[in-house]
Amino acid sequence: MAHASDLIASDIEGYLTSHQYKSMLRFITCGSVDDGKSTLIGRLLYESHLVFEDHLATLEADSAKVGTQGSDLDFALLLDGLAAEREQGITIDVAYRFFSTERRKFIVADTPGHEQYTRNMVTGASTADVAVVLVDARKGVLTQTRRHSFLVSLLGIKRVVVAINKMDLVDYSHDIFNAIEAEYLNFASRISLDDITFIPLSALKGDNVTSASEHTNWYNGPTLIEYLETVPAADERAGQSFRMPVQWVNRPNLDFRGFSGQVVGGTVRPGDAVRVLPAGTTSRVDRIVTMDGDLGEAIAGQSVTITLTDEVDVSRGDMICHTDNSAEVADQFESHVIWMHENGMLPGRPYLMRIGARTVGVTIGDPKYRIDVNTLGHLAANTLEMNEIGVCNISLDRAVPFDPYSENRDTGGFVIIDKMTQSTVGAGLLHFALRRSHNIHWQDVRVNKNARAEQNSHRPGLVWLTGLSGSGKSTIANIVESKLHAMGVHTYLLDGDNLRHGLNRDLGFTDADRVENIRRVSEVAGLMVDAGLIVLASFISPFAAERQLARERLSNGEFIEVHVDAPLDVAEARDPKGLYAKARRGDLSNFTGIDSPYERPASPEVRIDTSIVEPDVAADVVIDALRSAGMIN
Ligand code: ADX
Repeated sequence: MAHASDLIASDIEGYLTSHQYKSMLRFITCGSVDDGKSTLIGRLLYESHLVFEDHLATLEADSAKVGTQGSDLDFALLLDGLAAEREQGITIDVAYRFFSTERRKFIVADTPGHEQYTRNMVTGASTADVAVVLVDARKGVLTQTRRHSFLVSLLGIKRVVVAINKMDLVDYSHDIFNAIEAEYLNFASRISLDDITFIPLSALKGDNVTSASEHTNWYNGPTLIEYLETVPAADERAGQSFRMPVQWVNRPNLDFRGFSGQVVGGTVRPGDAVRVLPAGTTSRVDRIVTMDGDLGEAIAGQSVTITLTDEVDVSRGDMICHTDNSAEVADQFESHVIWMHENGMLPGRPYLMRIGARTVGVTIGDPKYRIDVNTLGHLAANTLEMNEIGVCNISLDRAVPFDPYSENRDTGGFVIIDKMTQSTVGAGLLHFALRRSHNIHWQDVRVNKNARAEQNSHRPGLVWLTGLSGSGKSTIANIVESKLHAMGVHTYLLDGDNLRHGLNRDLGFTDADRVENIRRVSEVAGLMVDAGLIVLASFISPFAAERQLARERLSNGEFIEVHVDAPLDVAEARDPKGLYAKARRGDLSNFTGIDSPYERPASPEVRIDTSIVEPDVAADVVIDALRSAGMIN
């Protein structure tokens, strides 16, 4: 093994890459400490004899050099896919253990079974070839077994080993083994798991882990390690259609232009006819370039640089496919959404979605249903809380190339990122494209915004007043509108209280309803600006994300954010509608500032402290801002 250690020392990437393809099996263990999971992993590591301690030492050194985990072993170096979310600032309790036998190398993702099990499992399972589901022979198939198996099937792991553990405690009973097998198969038929192997074992005593047990002579199947050593690994991806998301355009000099990325499906060879998505341009593969020279073919899992025979336009995030069997391109989907953050999902909020090498804007619709992972029942839901899984329609701000997750985990899986904090808040699995958006086209209009604005003595725009209830937003907005009206400016005032009697009468004050409230108002205000008006919007609008949405709906220079900044105690002392008193008495819930948050604007165009500035003066400050923005003279 000296050669391997040298290779690790000199070129860890190369070492890992070559080993990944030769015979690397990634598997996940599901079960709790009580089921004997730690014992089983410990025994696998110990009995495999070849824990490559010297290699681990080198990996340790290299992790410190190139890894992102400080002095910890960076097994993320060995992984791709969702593991990248470590960078995205979410804590994931997945321990990746690396061990090896004569025949194969293994990465086992050990996911603790506690609170965050869903997100841990999603992370651990997203790259796994096999799942080992532990069942305690004394307890049989439990709710937890069902839950884990459902996640395994959802995440597309095709092969499952049901390790019926602690057989020593049931006298190695064949009947008990049979009963558990029958019960599991009955459940598995409902979640489309088809390749299931049952192994009776005792992790503690070592039965059927690495050597066949003399206590289970009724069992003729493989030991766990035999199974893991011989089950097909990673080759499935190589049999899929060719897919390569372009990570970056490699252009060291004018003579070379290559497209670098990891092949995430199929095989590619020089001469192959390819299509670049989403544009759809076609060309042929000229060369497949690697650090170790050109290749005659590259298969799923390999990172390569491809050059094309024609000068076609390819950018980061594009996907290169074969011309036959190319991926689809769409911007609306039905999808499984797995929520991973303690702040629940907000339908309608703009999030970011990372799919392949591309990041786009996404909004998630109301869940069609949430899945009870214990019973597989479909439940009604308005949102998804942490660890919950549902099915939603999602819409993107751009069309992306994709495959259904069931066909390709890399091109059909995505993560959801919060725009403000940049942290990963969820993951998803695409089902299919909705054809709706293809059928809805933009109509040309002859009279456009500029033409309409030219007939006015001013430019259109949106003044967005945000602040606590009672801060003075509406008072200021009314004075501003009167002054503008007197100047001959065409205006309209949108006020939270008023809109909630009509357009938004179906909305309350939950976070989700406030998101929808502001989304609708942004759309309406956007249309009115398009019509040539100066619009004043007076809404608490407590969330930065939706204020940003309103801003992004407009062109540069058309949006003025005014933070009407009264301290809570001042607003509460005014209490013009008696609502603070009600909220304090507990008669009104989700009241902003009391039991619902207000996110202060970080850098509004205007901030006015109404505890010290009179309304009329505040209105003049806003009018000055309109002048500075060039909306009025
Ligand atoms: S927002 O949060 O969704 O932007 P919006 O500005 O439309 O709120 O409506 C706020 C108005 O609704 C307040 O001025 C107040 O009169 C009234 N209101 C009733 N219940 C609440 C509540 N729980 N929190 C805040 N405002 C409330």
